[in-house]
Amino acid sequence: MELNKTGHTVIDMQHQRILEWFEKLESIPANQRFRPYAKAVIDDLRNYVVEHFELEEQVMTECGFPDSERHQHLHQQLSEQVEKFANEYEVTGVVAQDKLIEFLKDWLIRHINQEDAKFSSYLESQ
Ligand SMILES: [Fe+2]
Ligand SMILES: [Fe+2]
Repeated sequence: MELNKTGHTVIDMQHQRILEWFEKLESIPANQRFRPYAKAVIDDLRNYVVEHFELEEQVMTECGFPDSERHQHLHQQLSEQVEKFANEYEVTGVVAQDKLIEFLKDWLIRHINQEDAKFSSYLESQ
């Protein structure tokens, strides 16, 4: 999968991490070996959403991106989904591996490649 660039070095590097998680999860067969890594992704994702969305929202505000309120709402929804995965794991002790892969894929295609890509032109005009 090819990721669209925003032109912001750190943001683009962070996006790459989602792709790496996705590709690694997809490459591991759905058996016992699969689970520790899925758990590690969920743990990392909890910190990632805070760090990544804060940076993106700060950059959007600074460059005067007109659609930032809607974009922040989309971030909120992604954060809530990450919390759901984390809670599910805490309660059941099991990671819904296929769901996690689908979630990351959707994030890559619909959020990063469509929504995040929209503010690249505002960054260029800085
Ligand atoms: Fe992003
Ligand atoms: Fe975003």
